[in-house]
Amino acid sequence: MTMLDPAPATAALSIAMRDGSQEAHTEAEGSAFMAELTSARINALGVRDYLLRFREVYRTLEALGTELAGDPAVAAVVDPALDRLAAIEEDLAFWAQAAGAPAPAEFHSPATDAYVARLHEVRTCAPLFVAHHYTRYLGDLSGGQVIGRVLDRELGLEGRGTAFYAFPAIAKPKPYKDRYRARLDALDLTAEQQRAVVGEVSVAFALNQAVFTELGADLATYRR
Ligand code: HEM
Repeated sequence: MTMLDPAPATAALSIAMRDGSQEAHTEAEGSAFMAELTSARINALGVRDYLLRFREVYRTLEALGTELAGDPAVAAVVDPALDRLAAIEEDLAFWAQAAGAPAPAEFHSPATDAYVARLHEVRTCAPLFVAHHYTRYLGDLSGGQVIGRVLDRELGLEGRGTAFYAFPAIAKPKPYKDRYRARLDALDLTAEQQRAVVGEVSVAFALNQAVFTELGADLATYRR
């Protein structure tokens, strides 16, 4: 290395993003609502209310992905194969019917509002969007797969109501995630931008955690 070479990042970006969110990840997995969901102990109303919140999150994520696609960092991660909005709509219809409670057009969720508001804020700094994209979609391709399988098996759904966790355009999550991480590592970001992205992953996890905490407050209503 010569004096003119840029300072190497201490670790690959994907590693820094994973390491930086490890604690928050454990916390998210252990949150009361997620732990119950992962054990298939949430009733139809609970799944409906969970999907209502994440429908807004993905509606915003996917609209922003399109809007910001001119940014090379955003272009490197956005992929229609990941899109979840249509799948969430499908599941929402299933669970609302199962609950005998149609999805309301409006609902009160300060945690969802805060999440969506933050997504709008990162518009002015496109690389930060990558942190939000990573947190949700790599999560869906990881823990989401576990949740989908458990719900299907424990509740005998035979594929119904779990479109959120199914990626028909992605044959195998593992190699897809490896390629995704390789694309993160190839991003042309300064060390400062990389630190900002890693920091934003923590923000994204905290926003998710707040949604789970909000749902957890109604656990008595949501337990099957
Ligand atoms: C609730 C139950 C959850 C379980 C059982 C779970 C499980 C897992 C597992 C096993 C992995 C590792 C996959 C691999 O090595 O490729 C993983 C990765 C990941 N999870 Fe979760 N998870 C859960 C919740 C969440 C939540 C709530 C989020 C964020 C909102 C999340 C975000 C992520 C991300 C971003 C990764 C990728 C880490 C990386 O390799 O860079 N997970 N999860």
